[in-house]
Amino acid sequence: MLQFRAEPIPDVGVGLVGLGRRGTEAVSRLPKVPGCHLAAVCDVRPEAAAAASGVSAYTDYRALCEDPAVDLVYICTDWGHHVPIALYAMDCGKHVAIEVPSAQTLDECWALVKASERTRRHCTILENCCYDSFELTALEMARRGAFGQLVHAEGAYHHNLENRWGPDNMGWRLELNRSQRGDLYPTHGLGPVCQALGIHRGDRLATLVSMDTAPFNGPRFLREQTGSEPAGFQNGDLTMTMIRTQKGRTILLQHDVMTPRPYDRGYQLVGTAGFAQKYPSERVCLSADGAERVYEGDELASLLPGYRSPILTPSIEALSKTVGGHDGMDFLMDYRVIYCLNHGLPLDMDVYDLAEWCCVTELSRISLENGSRPVEVPDFTSGAWNIIDGFSYAL
Ligand SMILES: NC(=O)c1ccc[n+]([C@@H]2O[C@H](COP(=O)([O-])OP(=O)(O)OC[C@H]3O[C@@H](n4cnc5c(N)ncnc54)[C@H](O)[C@@H]3O)[C@@H](O)[C@H]2O)c1
Repeated sequence: MLQFRAEPIPDVGVGLVGLGRRGTEAVSRLPKVPGCHLAAVCDVRPEAAAAASGVSAYTDYRALCEDPAVDLVYICTDWGHHVPIALYAMDCGKHVAIEVPSAQTLDECWALVKASERTRRHCTILENCCYDSFELTALEMARRGAFGQLVHAEGAYHHNLENRWGPDNMGWRLELNRSQRGDLYPTHGLGPVCQALGIHRGDRLATLVSMDTAPFNGPRFLREQTGSEPAGFQNGDLTMTMIRTQKGRTILLQHDVMTPRPYDRGYQLVGTAGFAQKYPSERVCLSADGAERVYEGDELASLLPGYRSPILTPSIEALSKTVGGHDGMDFLMDYRVIYCLNHGLPLDMDVYDLAEWCCVTELSRISLENGSRPVEVPDFTSGAWNIIDGFSYAL
């Protein structure tokens, strides 16, 4: 499925499964994305499905997947339902796009890879953080060699969810933190840096090691919700994972949804001749002729337009600002999936990206449960990770 091209679909019929918080946002966004239309929606809650007007509405995802008007099944359910729906959709001949994290276990990652290869259907991950304006620009700088050779990168999901947990609001996600150790949400941090490092495009994730804190705030949140003492809360407040690539580069990945640290995706690229950092404030450092120059504020604002991402045409950038969704990155993500399907082009993120970014959840748990021992990362491309030279967009 590397660089896979499917038959062009001039007007993509989207079938959206999961009309919760995220799915409802997508329902209002997708009709504004050129080249597609919302063909059908589905939710197990009949009242949610019934609220959709003007499109077919289902309570059984199998009926949506079998609907001939649907070309792309867009999955926004809770994590436990992503993979069965995606597998069924691909068997029905549909392309699939899955919210993050698309898969939670190694078996799920392999199942999606094998299904995509067998059915020759796209199976992409809806990783919106790859379309943030700073990450897009830094990726372009990396692609053009502005940082020299990248040697290290960092990514994170620091997002205090204390006020969001609740029985009717992401209770399932707190329950997963209660029952399982590991980096449960690795892809916002890992996706953008894997693109910059060209993972499975000349390098591959080889080994990881994880370490976590004890659970401190997690059990307290659960106690406050349920009124009783939670037995055996598993996940630490903070999980750190270090990954070494086949070519000897490193990634530091962090997960913290429990402490009052301000929102931060930790994004950093470190190269032999430069550095980029998004948080707490954006800055770039470039070295030339033995001297380093740090770009911040106005200087950074004049440097970055020289590295504008090739996917950001002026009209698409303007539309992303109007439609929005996390400052436009949600729109850009949808736009790129649909544009590539319209033109029969390879998608920006293939099923191997999905598997590499998502497998960290189970691999970090295995490392943690074995005293932080190193764990091998599978090669989901089965030996083809070195065929393509670097990340690129199909335009
Ligand atoms: N990329 C981002 O920035 C971002 C932000 C928020 C959430 N998310 C992801 O989006 C997904 C959804 O999150 P949410 O907060 O909207 O969850 P949610 O619990 O609000 O919504 C999930 C919906 O899926 C429905 N559902 C569950 N199983 C189903 C099935 N088998 N068939 C049909 N419908 C089913 C539920 O009834 C519910 O309406 C998660 O994967 C989450 O991690 C991503």
